[in-house]
Amino acid sequence: MKDRTDIREEILRLREKRGAIILAHNYQPPEVQDIADLTGDSLELSRAAAVMEGEVIVFCGVDFMAETAAILSPEKTVLLPAEDACCPMAQMITAEELMLVKSRYPDAGVVCYVNTTAEVKAESDICCTSSNAIRVVNSVDQDQIIFVPDKNLARYAKRFTKKEILPWEGFCIVHDRITPEMVREARDAHPGAVLLVHPECRPEVIDLADHVASTSGIVRHVCSSEEHEFIIGTEVGILHRLARECKDKRCYPLSPEALCRNMKKTDLVKVRDALATLQPRITVPEEIASRARGAIERMLALP
Ligand code: 13P
Ligand code: SF4
Repeated sequence: MKDRTDIREEILRLREKRGAIILAHNYQPPEVQDIADLTGDSLELSRAAAVMEGEVIVFCGVDFMAETAAILSPEKTVLLPAEDACCPMAQMITAEELMLVKSRYPDAGVVCYVNTTAEVKAESDICCTSSNAIRVVNSVDQDQIIFVPDKNLARYAKRFTKKEILPWEGFCIVHDRITPEMVREARDAHPGAVLLVHPECRPEVIDLADHVASTSGIVRHVCSSEEHEFIIGTEVGILHRLARECKDKRCYPLSPEALCRNMKKTDLVKVRDALATLQPRITVPEEIASRARGAIERMLALP
């Protein structure tokens, strides 16, 4: 049986041979983050997928992320090592459901969170991520916006716009479980620590936070802050990057149970096998990709 060092070496050799880049989301297991060319949030990874050199992209994350890469770089081979890694929130709205809402509000603009299927993106005017949702909402011409699928991100963006937001009632099954009670317990355990939360958290949790940011936004904030202790209100995978990059800071999870099972389905063996076999490959039919690309590229074009 091969040990991790052997598998890591195999991955590096295959990466070279395939002309591949390995992208990992901030929630990926430590061993996967450590082998990646770039570990980041959804926006950083989308940008990288659009511009980075390489014939093959190994996307260590969940399905909508690999789909977004395949839409932006149809000429590249996009691999999702954990074939069944999905985002339950992205399954909470279908293109048909979105079309029905659009028919009820024909004058509204449509903003879709990147955590959606390619079909839903194809029915949207512009995409957003957790790090640019406010900017995207305010960039839309219409005063009324259908925002799908995350009700919590929609309500967070609503705090920073005069536009009318019509949220779809989807949510992240990991962040929506974080409660104000957990905040009180964490604050009692770590008095004086700064509380950072992800905008997928419920409004009543956001009300109690000191700062709200995307996953990489949280890392940037902790690393650049003059404070020393932080309570981190997002999926626990981010603690690895925080420990690696913000060595002089102490970070405590707001909820140690905030764990996205789908994000943990990738491991080194699956990354190696994906590079060896060029499978599982993610492709998006061009008639859907061409419309979805418009929504993603409009987001990427924003300053
Ligand atoms: P970020 O874009 O902030 O990394 O968030 C992605 C995600 O799925 C959060 O649950
Ligand atoms: Fe989806 Fe939530 Fe997992 Fe992010 S943490 S991938 S939103 S289920």
